[in-house]
Amino acid sequence: MSKVVLITGGSSGIGKAIGTHLVSRGYIVYGTSRNPEQFSGHSLPFPLLKLDVTDPENAIAVAHEIQEKEGRIDVLINNAGVGITGPLEETPTAEIRRAFDTNFYGPIHMMKAVLPYMRAHRKGLIINITSIAGYMGLPYRGVYSATKGALSLVSESMQMELYHMGIDICNIAPGDFNTNIAHGRYHSPVLDTSDYKKHYGRVMKVINEQMADSADPSLIGKKVERIIEKKNRKLHYKAGAFMEKMSVKLKQVLPDKVFNKLLLNHYKL
Ligand SMILES: NC(=O)c1ccc[n+]([C@@H]2O[C@H](COP(=O)([O-])OP(=O)(O)OC[C@H]3O[C@@H](n4cnc5c(N)ncnc54)[C@H](OP(=O)(O)O)[C@@H]3O)[C@@H](O)[C@H]2O)c1
Repeated sequence: MSKVVLITGGSSGIGKAIGTHLVSRGYIVYGTSRNPEQFSGHSLPFPLLKLDVTDPENAIAVAHEIQEKEGRIDVLINNAGVGITGPLEETPTAEIRRAFDTNFYGPIHMMKAVLPYMRAHRKGLIINITSIAGYMGLPYRGVYSATKGALSLVSESMQMELYHMGIDICNIAPGDFNTNIAHGRYHSPVLDTSDYKKHYGRVMKVINEQMADSADPSLIGKKVERIIEKKNRKLHYKAGAFMEKMSVKLKQVLPDKVFNKLLLNHYKL
């Protein structure tokens, strides 16, 4: 029987790539978008349901709709997310909250919405798309790192809470993938007189160069399929270039000062 997969944010980038691959492999896929009507002519191979993950009622309605149609939700992929950059001191608190609303509370609303159905079946898998940035506080991306690090920790706790119900949960932390994330990202406006202006500018230059040179999101689709089909999953997966994955290991083994020096060099600070 084909597995039923709900992917939040299936309209572009990583979510679209995962959905497209899973459909080609025979899965029943539902994607989502805040504006699905915008994508009606885009010949996506799966339907897009209207969803803003920051709205818990909307999350419940989407899960209910799929449960009614398919009788189950086998896999939830919490993919919807936004970027945010800026010096923490100058980033408006409302924008910090907004980033957490989408990247942290959004997945929580979704998990709360699907878990009653998964518990009833004593079966299910939740995949949270976190980020390599969630393993370390990156300069001028502290809020983004924090949203993803927080989601990763919640997954760790939930794995222990859910395992006796036959429900599994894992994180996939991507490195840089060439998607629309930079267009939707919030960039904190920095005044000409700001003490941070020069360094923030340097970091943004490195971030933009990395993004231009980043991997095709279609690479993630196969990885997600392998993870879905595994009997024994790990809790944490990473997807990306060798050095991006290696940076997580280096952070674990190097003294903080040495690791921070590597980051400072990398970002030309
Ligand atoms: N690209 C990377 O290098 C990278 C690296 C690490 C982690 N990630 C993570 O991967 C995930 C996908 O990002 P992407 O790179 O594919 O970016 P993207 O191309 O900008 O796609 C983001 C998706 O999230 C959806 N979305 C945004 N806010 C939403 C909200 N409030 N409610 C529901 N859906 C919302 C968007 O849908 P609509 O706009 O149609 O609603 C869109 O489908 C994110 O969680 C991101 O943090 C990306």
